[in-house]
Amino acid sequence: MIGNFTYCNPTKLYFGKDALEGLKLELPKYGKNVLLVYGGGSIKKNGIYDRVVGILKECGKEIFEDGGVMPNPTYVKLCEGIARARAAEADLILAVGGGSVCDYAKAVSVSVHCNEDAWEKYFIRFEEPSCEIIPVGCVLTMVGTGSEMNGGSVITNHAEKLKIGHVFGEEVFPKFSVLNPEFTYTVPKYQMVSGIYDIMSHILEQYFSGTDDNTSDYISEGLLRSLIHSANIAVEDPKNYEARSNIMWTATWALNTLIAKGKTTDWMVHMLGQAVAAHTDATHGMTLAAVTMPYYKFILPYATEKFARYATQVWDVDPTGKTKSAVAYEGLERMEAWMKKLGLVMNITELGATREMLDGMVKSTLIMDGGYKVLGEKDVRAVLSASF
Ligand code: NZQ
Ligand code: ZN
Repeated sequence: MIGNFTYCNPTKLYFGKDALEGLKLELPKYGKNVLLVYGGGSIKKNGIYDRVVGILKECGKEIFEDGGVMPNPTYVKLCEGIARARAAEADLILAVGGGSVCDYAKAVSVSVHCNEDAWEKYFIRFEEPSCEIIPVGCVLTMVGTGSEMNGGSVITNHAEKLKIGHVFGEEVFPKFSVLNPEFTYTVPKYQMVSGIYDIMSHILEQYFSGTDDNTSDYISEGLLRSLIHSANIAVEDPKNYEARSNIMWTATWALNTLIAKGKTTDWMVHMLGQAVAAHTDATHGMTLAAVTMPYYKFILPYATEKFARYATQVWDVDPTGKTKSAVAYEGLERMEAWMKKLGLVMNITELGATREMLDGMVKSTLIMDGGYKVLGEKDVRAVLSASF
C-alpha cells in the first residue's frame, strides 16, 4: 500500500428487509424539526413516503417537506432547499430517494449556516465547510452512486453549464443510512441498469490507477465479479432479492472510500460524463457508459498490463499464447458486449448531445491527473468526438 492514509467511515448502515426499523433507533438522537427531502414523487407511489412519515410521527417529529429534487439536482433547487431548511430550523435532514436526493441533502446541510454563496464556495473553490453542519440521514430507494455512505455531493449549474462534485469529509457523510433492497424494486429498468453501470464505473475509476501490488485492486476485482453476476440475474428477474441486495451492497462498497485507499484514482470517465450531462441533463450512469469505451480504448496503450489483468481476473479471458495487448483488448470487447446486453446507452448522441455542443463539452470537462494518462484538451476532444 503506497503512501500514508487514514480510514474512517462514520455512517451507520441498516441493511435488509427490516432496515427501516433502524430509523426508529436513530430519530431520537436528533431534535424535533426534520426536513424531509425527496424527489419527483416515486416514494408517494410506492408507499415508502407513508411508511417514513408514519415513523417520523411516531417519534414525535415536526415534519417540514422539501420535495421535487430532480435527477442531477441544480444550484437553483439548492438555494430553495437552503431557504426551506432555514425556515424550518431543521435539526435533521432526512433524504428519502436516490443519489440525487442524498447529494442534495448534503449540499443543503453544509449551506444552511454558511453565509457565503454555496456554489462558489463548495463547487468552484472546493473549500471545506467552516460552519455548523446539519446532520443528514438517508433512506435509499435507488442504487448506484454510493451517496448513502460517502461525502459526495454533485450539483448542476445550468447557467454555467457545469456539473461538479465536491467530495466532502467525514463530517458530511450521512450519520445513518437505511438500505432495504426491496425499496429498489420499483426503479424503472433504465434507471436500474444505469445505476449498475455507475457502480462498475466507480470501481474502475479507482482500479485503473497505479502499478503497485495493492489490496484495493483485489477487493475491486471481487466486487466487479459479484456485480456482473448479480446484474445478469437482476435484468432478467428484477425482483430477485439475492441479486438486488448484492447489487445494493456492492454499490455502497464501490464508493465509500475503502477501495480508494493507496490509489491515486482516475475519475476521467466521470469528468467526461459530467461534461456531457452539463449540456444534456442525461442520466448519470448512461453518460458514463457512453464515454467509457472511447476513453478506455484511448488510454489502454498507456496501461496494457493493468487492462490485461482486468481482462483475465474480471472477464475470464484466457491469456494462453496471446500478447498482453490482445488480452487487454479482448477484455474490453467482453465488457462492451456485456454493456450492450444490459441495455446501456453506448453513445452520447442518444443522450441528446450534438456536434454543436462539442466545444462546450470540452470546456466543461475537468482534468484529473491520477490515471494512466493525463489528458490534454486535444485528447478530451478526441475521446468525446469518438463518443457520438
Ligand atoms: O425523483 P423520483 O420520483 O424519486 O424518481 C427517481 C428519479 O427519476 C427514480 N427513483 C428513485 N428511486 C425510485 C425511483 N423510481 C421508482 N422507484 C424507486 N424506488 O430514479 C430516478 C433517478 O434518481 P436519482 O437519484 O437521480 O439517481 P441516482 O441514484 O443515479 O443519482 C444520480 C445523481 O447522483 C450523482 C450523479 O451525478 C447524479 O446527480 N452522483 C453522486 C455521487 C456521490 N454522492 O458520490 C457519485 C456518482 O458518481 C454520481 O456523480
Ligand atoms: Zn458515478
